[in-house]
Amino acid sequence: MRVLLADEYGFCFGVERAVDMVEESLSNNETVRTLGPLIHNEQEMERLGAKGVSTINKPVQIGRGETAVIRAHGVAPQVQAELQDKASKVVDATCPFVTRVQRLASRAAEENRHVIVVGNPDHPEMIGVKGYAPEHAFVIRDETEIGDLPRLRNPLVVSQTTIKAKTFFDTAEAIKSIAEGETQVINTICSATRDRQDAARALAGEVDAFYIIGGNHSSNSRKLLNVCKEQCEKSFLIQTDEDIDPADLDGVETVGVTAGASTPKWLIDKVVAKLEKL
Ligand code: F3S
Repeated sequence: MRVLLADEYGFCFGVERAVDMVEESLSNNETVRTLGPLIHNEQEMERLGAKGVSTINKPVQIGRGETAVIRAHGVAPQVQAELQDKASKVVDATCPFVTRVQRLASRAAEENRHVIVVGNPDHPEMIGVKGYAPEHAFVIRDETEIGDLPRLRNPLVVSQTTIKAKTFFDTAEAIKSIAEGETQVINTICSATRDRQDAARALAGEVDAFYIIGGNHSSNSRKLLNVCKEQCEKSFLIQTDEDIDPADLDGVETVGVTAGASTPKWLIDKVVAKLEKL
């Protein structure tokens, strides 16, 4: 049986960077606490937990002498300030693609312009971005919500990093149609999710079975499963190598493997090793 990996899979740049930053703090013997779970992967969280990394839900929970880590989603400036006030050190692992959205929002607010961010208002990334322009930023899910916006003049439209391009551009067009003056549209979608889906799609037509490694609750892993299923009926979402059922591989000659953006390499390696053994 041949095992083929998709061209793009596993940790995205921002998640890999965040985990590396935590590892570096651990190697300096710091007591590391992350504000919210660092990544959406149970096994990786367990691995880091075994090394002493724990999670806090509010800045007030950080102790003196501890290192606070801001995860890739970023936080509002006042949350960062609270952490800086309490922790002995703050490691800012905000993904640079998210930092860009925060800066754009903050600059537009300085120019007294409205910023419309297309995304999920309840998502931590959006809560953080809004904190950079509290009086000027509005987060809307899609064009159906433009009725909730105030009167706009020369607004800036940006996006949550992980939304669909179509949602963003349709919403931007709708905003243009109601705003006065010139609407500036800056696409801040990160390509990591789309790249993984494109790579999975390209491989799915060539294999007899496909394993997608990722958490059951990881939305990008579920989307990868749907993409693979379109062309490969035997597509399975698994969390670890133990979830592989050898019976599923009867008559299979070529098997594809991909992984969600929160799946660490060591888990992927274990799955590939098990498939090669089978
Ligand atoms: Fe950053 Fe994109 Fe990952 S925004 S955290 S590289 S999905």
